[in-house]
Amino acid sequence: MNVSKFSLSFCGGLLAILIFNSLAFNVTAAEYYTVKPTFLPSCRIYEPGFINCSTHSIQKLIDQLNIGIPEIVERFGSLDPMHIKDIVYKQDNNEVATLSSNLTNVMVKGFSQIIIKESRVSKKDFNWQTKIYIPKMSLDAKYKMAGRVLLLPLNGSGKMLIVIDDLDVLLRTKVQLYEKGNFTFYNVTAVTAQLNMSRVHTNLDNLFNGRSKEVERSTNQFFNDNWRDFYEALKPLIVETVETIFLEIMSTVFHLIPANFFVEDIPTPQQLYGTDSKE
Ligand SMILES: *[C@@H]1O[C@H](CO)[C@@H](O)[C@H](O)[C@H]1NC(C)=O
Ligand SMILES: *[C@@H]1O[C@H](CO)[C@@H](O)[C@H](O)[C@H]1NC(C)=O
Ligand SMILES: *[C@@H]1O[C@H](CO)[C@@H](O)[C@H](O)[C@H]1NC(C)=O
Ligand SMILES: *[C@@H]1O[C@H](CO)[C@@H](O)[C@H](O)[C@H]1NC(C)=O
Ligand SMILES: *[C@@H]1O[C@H](CO)[C@@H](O)[C@H](O)[C@H]1NC(C)=O
Ligand SMILES: *[C@@H]1O[C@H](CO)[C@@H](O)[C@H](O)[C@H]1NC(C)=O
Repeated sequence: MNVSKFSLSFCGGLLAILIFNSLAFNVTAAEYYTVKPTFLPSCRIYEPGFINCSTHSIQKLIDQLNIGIPEIVERFGSLDPMHIKDIVYKQDNNEVATLSSNLTNVMVKGFSQIIIKESRVSKKDFNWQTKIYIPKMSLDAKYKMAGRVLLLPLNGSGKMLIVIDDLDVLLRTKVQLYEKGNFTFYNVTAVTAQLNMSRVHTNLDNLFNGRSKEVERSTNQFFNDNWRDFYEALKPLIVETVETIFLEIMSTVFHLIPANFFVEDIPTPQQLYGTDSKE
C-alpha cells in the first residue's frame, strides 16, 4: 500500500494536493536501461533535422507507454484511463470563483491519443519544449464542492465530468543532467503547461444537494454556454493536474531511460556544467 503524496503549489489562495494511487514500488524490473530500445530512432542534436527526429522519438515513447513499459505500469498502473486518488482544491480571491472542492476517485482519460506535434531541446541547458495535441481529455470524479462560480453559489456533492475537446498543450520541462553508469540522464525537475482548447463540457450532478433538478440542469447549461468563463474558474485545477501528471510520468521515465537514447550526442554533466560544478 504505497501512496506517494505531494503538494502541488500554494499561490494566490490556491492549494491543491494530488495523491497518486500508486501501486507497489518493489519493482523487480530494470533499474535503468543500458541498451537502447529498438522503438527509439537515433537523434543527434548537433546535426540537422533534430527537431523532426526528436518529435518522432517522443511520439514513439508515448506509443510505447501506451503499449506498456513494465517499470512505468508498476508505478502508475494504466495511463489511459489513469486513476488519481484525490485532489483537494481551494481557490479564493479570484474574480470568477471562490471555491473549495474535493475530488476523489479521479479518472483521467485521453492520454493514449496524444500526438506530439513538436519536441525541441535547448542546446544551452537541455530543457525541453514540447507541443502536444490531445483530441479529447476527460476527467471523471466524485466531487464535494462549496463556494461560488460565476456568481452562482454552489453547495453539493456528486459526480463530476469535465470533457475538454481539441486540447493543445505547450509543456516546458526543466531538467538537470546527471550521470549513471556511463550514461547521461535527465532529472526532470519542473513542468509547466499552457493549454488551449476548442471547448469544455461539464456536468456536475446533485449540484444543490438534489434540491432542484431543474436548477441543476439549467446551471450546468449555463456553465456550458459560458464555458470559457467556467474554464477560467477551474483553470488552476486543470492546469496543475496536467502538469503534475506529466512531471510524475516524465521524471520516472527519464530516470529509467538514459538521455543518450533520445539525444545521442548529449554532453555529459561535466561537459555541460563544468568539472567545478557541484552537479
Ligand atoms: C522526419 O522524421 C521521420 C522519421 O524519422 C522521417 O521519416 C521523415 O523523412 C523526416 N522528415 C523530414 C522533413 O526530415
Ligand atoms: C475538503 O477537504 C478539506 C480537508 O481535507 C476540508 O477542510 C474542506 O472543507 C473540504 N471541502 C469541501 C467542499 O468539502
Ligand atoms: C452545504 O450543504 C450542507 C448539507 O446540506 C450544509 O451542512 C452546509 O452548511 C452547506 N454549506 C454552505 C456553505 O452552504
Ligand atoms: C494558445 O493560443 C494563443 C493565442 O492564440 C497562442 O499564442 C499560444 O501559443 C497557444 N498555446 C498553445 C499551447 O497552443
Ligand atoms: C564506464 O566506462 C568505463 C570505461 O569505458 C568502464 O571501465 C566502466 O566499467 C564503465 N562503468 C559502468 C558502470 O558501466
Ligand atoms: C533530481 O533533482 C531533485 C531536485 O532538485 C534532487 O532532489 C534529486 O536529488 C535529483 N536526482 C538526481 C538523481 O540527480
